[in-house]
Amino acid sequence: MAIIGSRGRPAAPVPPAQSDELTRPEAATEASLTVVNWIDERAQLSQGLRWMMFRKVPKGINWAYTLGSATMFAFLNQAVTGVFLAMYYRPSVTGGAYESIRNINDNVFLGQFVHGMHKWGASVMIVLIFLHMGRVFFFGAYKYPRELSWIIGVVLLILTMAMGFTGYLLPFDQRSYWATIVGVNINGTAPFLGPYISDFLRGGPEFGATTLSRFYAIHMMLIPGLMAALIGLHLYLVMKLGISAPPWIKAQEPDVAIEKVEV
Ligand code: HEM
Repeated sequence: MAIIGSRGRPAAPVPPAQSDELTRPEAATEASLTVVNWIDERAQLSQGLRWMMFRKVPKGINWAYTLGSATMFAFLNQAVTGVFLAMYYRPSVTGGAYESIRNINDNVFLGQFVHGMHKWGASVMIVLIFLHMGRVFFFGAYKYPRELSWIIGVVLLILTMAMGFTGYLLPFDQRSYWATIVGVNINGTAPFLGPYISDFLRGGPEFGATTLSRFYAIHMMLIPGLMAALIGLHLYLVMKLGISAPPWIKAQEPDVAIEKVEV
């Protein structure tokens, strides 16, 4: 049907793809909601998400309570930047490791930036984990029923330091080489188990190619995997037990000390 437009000329027909029905913004929202509903009807994820997000938190919590999440974001930063570094890094002692790091810094697009994020992120994570542990300690948040959260936290702290130790060797320059030899020797002085630990770290009696591959595997697969699992458990406990109230609020009645989070 010809529609007469302004000045008496027939108006161009509207192609179906641009009709109001298909281009209105709600159509896209409805389509995505249908997909979300389809997944949720089968996986029931929203139930768990609601349990995670709509929690009661104590009155009086402050910025110090964000240090755990900040540590987690530092960990995620390490994981993401680490994946990109692993795409270019070569764990070879005959020039490969050191050269590949130089290549990342000098030639790869944003390589120096990503390498810097990973290197400085490691120190940031150590600082944050200690601050978080300090908050938990000084607020008495390690006491019943949160002892298990503390114990898992201690393991996470050890694993974070082990990440630092194993990562330090990877550039394989003079400093990382000699510092790691010192570190392995210090481990060797542990009572009874010392010699076994340093043998395990070196991958034999000699410090060399196997040591670097071993450190690389531990640094990018073993410890991150363990940490991801333990962080999951740590956060599950935080949600299950709830956040502890600050010491100055704890003294009050429980129903006064709790308020519902408004999201
Ligand atoms: C990768 C390391 C860690 C991550 C990602 C992490 C994450 C978190 C998060 C997100 C919370 C929620 C409340 C808050 O931020 O304070 C929390 C609570 C807690 N964390 Fe950690 N944490 C880590 C290491 C540690 C360490 C080293 C300790 C102690 C040795 C620890 C002990 C605890 C305890 C006891 C709670 C419960 C605190 C409360 O209920 O007030 N965590 N953690």
